[in-house]
Amino acid sequence: MKIPSSQSEYLDAYKNSVANPENFWAEIAEDFTWKKKWSEVLQWDFHKAEVKWFIGGKLNITENCIDRHLPSRANQTAILWESNDTQEPSKKITYQELSDQVCKVANMLKAHGIKKGDRVCIYMPMVPEAAYAMLGCARIGAVHSLVFAGFSSGSLVDRINDSKCKLVLTADGAHRGDKKIELKTIVDAALQHCPSVEKVVVLERSHSKPAMKAGRDFWWHDEMKKVSTVCPAEVMDAEDLLFILYTSGSTGKPKGMVHTCGGYMVYVNYTFRTAFQYKEKQIYWCTADVGWITGHSYIVYGPLSAGATTTMFEGIPSWPDMGRFWQVIEKHKVNIFYTAPTAIRSLQAAPLSFVEKYNLSSLQVIGSVGEPINEEAWDWYHKNIGKGNCPVIDTWWQTENGGFMISPIANVTKLKPAFASLPLPGVQPAVMDEKGNELLENNIEGRLAIKFPWPSIARTIYGDHQRFKDTYFSTFPGKYFTGDGCKRDEDGYYRITGRVDDIIIVSGHNMGTAEVESAIDEHPAVAESAVVGFPHDIKGQGIYAFVICYQKPNDAEKLRAEIKETVSKIIGPIAKPDKIQFVSGLPKTRSGKIMRRILRKVAEGDTSNLGDITTLLDPNVVEEIKNGAL
Ligand code: WT7
Repeated sequence: MKIPSSQSEYLDAYKNSVANPENFWAEIAEDFTWKKKWSEVLQWDFHKAEVKWFIGGKLNITENCIDRHLPSRANQTAILWESNDTQEPSKKITYQELSDQVCKVANMLKAHGIKKGDRVCIYMPMVPEAAYAMLGCARIGAVHSLVFAGFSSGSLVDRINDSKCKLVLTADGAHRGDKKIELKTIVDAALQHCPSVEKVVVLERSHSKPAMKAGRDFWWHDEMKKVSTVCPAEVMDAEDLLFILYTSGSTGKPKGMVHTCGGYMVYVNYTFRTAFQYKEKQIYWCTADVGWITGHSYIVYGPLSAGATTTMFEGIPSWPDMGRFWQVIEKHKVNIFYTAPTAIRSLQAAPLSFVEKYNLSSLQVIGSVGEPINEEAWDWYHKNIGKGNCPVIDTWWQTENGGFMISPIANVTKLKPAFASLPLPGVQPAVMDEKGNELLENNIEGRLAIKFPWPSIARTIYGDHQRFKDTYFSTFPGKYFTGDGCKRDEDGYYRITGRVDDIIIVSGHNMGTAEVESAIDEHPAVAESAVVGFPHDIKGQGIYAFVICYQKPNDAEKLRAEIKETVSKIIGPIAKPDKIQFVSGLPKTRSGKIMRRILRKVAEGDTSNLGDITTLLDPNVVEEIKNGAL
C-alpha cells in the first residue's frame, strides 16, 4: 500500500480516491490478511443510511493486529505501559506476549460461554489487560462494548442493557492520580438492574478486595491459569460487528455506534500511517483512554495493525505534578505524541519549568483531537512541546467516523494554526448552508456534511436504525451530517467551529444537554432545568445549568453542591455542571420550546443583543435571567 508522503502524492491519492473510490480502497485493502477476498468493494445508499464495504470478504482483525506481525516482530514491543504510580516499573509487552495473552482471554471468554456475536462489556482501567480484553473479544467474534471507567453505575446500566451484554470484564479498582475508583463496587450496583449479565471477570489491580458473588464473579488471574495461549481466529465477515461504542446524543439516551470488521480495520490503519507518517520502530503515544473512540482506533487497532509500539498510560497529566506527560515522553523517548486541547491548555497554564525539566528531543510529530484547538494553545504546543519543528496534527473526526477525516499529513500538509486543514484521501466534505444547499466556493462558513462513504463510517445505531437515519442522514438528504459547523478558507482549508446542535464538548467529551438536564431533574428540589455550553479556558466548553426549583432554595450553595453530586452519580463526574443559576422561569416560546439561543448568550456573558424575544410566552423571564447571570 502506498502511503502518500509528499504534497504531490497526497494530491494524486486524493484525486484518485474521489474519481475511483472503489479501486482506491481495494488497493489499500489488498495489503491485509484476508481469509477470503471480497466480491464487491462498496454498496451504499445514504438515503437509507446503508453502507457496506468489502462485501463477502472474510477476515479476523486480530490476525492483522497480531499474527501477521509475529514472523518479523515477535520480540518487538507492541504495548508499552506506564503506570499511574511513578514508582511502579513500566511494562513492555512484545507482540508474542500480546498474542499469548489475547488468545488466553479469548479462550477464557469461550470457557464462560461467550460465542461469536455475543456482547461483552469492558469496564476497565488503562492497563494492558484492557487491550487484551478488546482483542480477545475480537478473536472469537464477540462484540465488545467499552464503557469509560469514569462513568457511573447508572450509565453502565444503560449501556449494558441497551446491547444486552452477557459478560462484564472489569477490575477491582482503578487508580487515576491520587484517586481510587472502586470499579467492581460500581459494577455490582449496576448489575442489580442488568438481567442479561451472567458472568463477571475481575482483574486484580487496586487490591481493594471487593465482594465476589459465587457463580457469577471470577478472578481474572484464576481463569487465565486454566486456558491455553493458542486460539484460532474466528472467521468474520467484513460487515460483522467488531464493537459497539456509546456516544451522547442531542436528545434521549446515548447512541450505540456500531463498527464492523473490514472497513474499520482498513481505514484506521491507513489514516494512522498517513496522518502521522508513522515509520518502523517509532514509539507512539496517544494519551486517550481506551473507553473512547480515540483509544479504540489510535491506541489499539490502528497502531497494532501497523505493527507499531503503542503506549498505554494509566495516569493523568497533572499527577504527581504538571510535568507527568513530559516526563513520560523523556523516559520512553516518544516520537509521536497525540493528546487533547484540554490537556494542552491545562498544562500551558502551569509554569514552563515543568516542561523545561525534560528532554523532549525524541518528539517528531505531535497531534491534537477532540475539540477545536484555539490558536494560543496551538502555538504554545508547537513552540514549547514541538520546539518549533514538530508538525501539529489536528485531527478532526467523530466516534461515528471511526477514524481521522480532516487532518494534516505530517511534514506534507502546510500547517495553519487551529485549522484541521484538508480532507484525507477518501473523504469528501460538503459545506452546507441553512437551506440545505452545498456551498461550492471557498471563503465560506456553514455546516459540515460528508458526501461519500469512507470505509469506517458507523453502520448503524445498535438496535435503532431509524434513529441512525434521522440523526445523520435526514438534515441534508443524501449526505452524512456531522453536527459540526465549519469554515473553509481561500486555500480550501477547513476550520471546525464547534457543534451546531445540543451537544457540548467538555474537555473533549461529548455531552448531550438533554442527558445532563434529566440528571439534574432527578434532584428532588428541582422542577425543571436547561443546560447550555459556555466558553471555558481549560475545558473548551463548560456546562451552565439554569435550574427552576419547586421552592426558592434556602441555601443555594448547598443545593448547587447536591445537584452536582446528583449528576455525578447518575452520569459521572465529567458531566457535573460548572455553573448553576437558579431561576424562576425559562425563556419558552408559546409552543413550549426553550429558546436556547438566549440561554447561550447569557452563559457566554454577552447579553447586549439577545435578538428577537417577542415570540416568548413571558419575555419578563429574560430580564431576571440576565440579572442573575453567573
Ligand atoms: C466531536 C466528536 C474523535 C475523537 C474524539 C471525539 C469535536 C473532534 C476535533 C478537532 C475540532 C473536533 C467535533 C466532533 N472534534 N476533533 N480536531 N477539531 N473539533 O469524538 O466524542 O465523537 O466527538 O468532537 O465537534 O463532532 P466524539
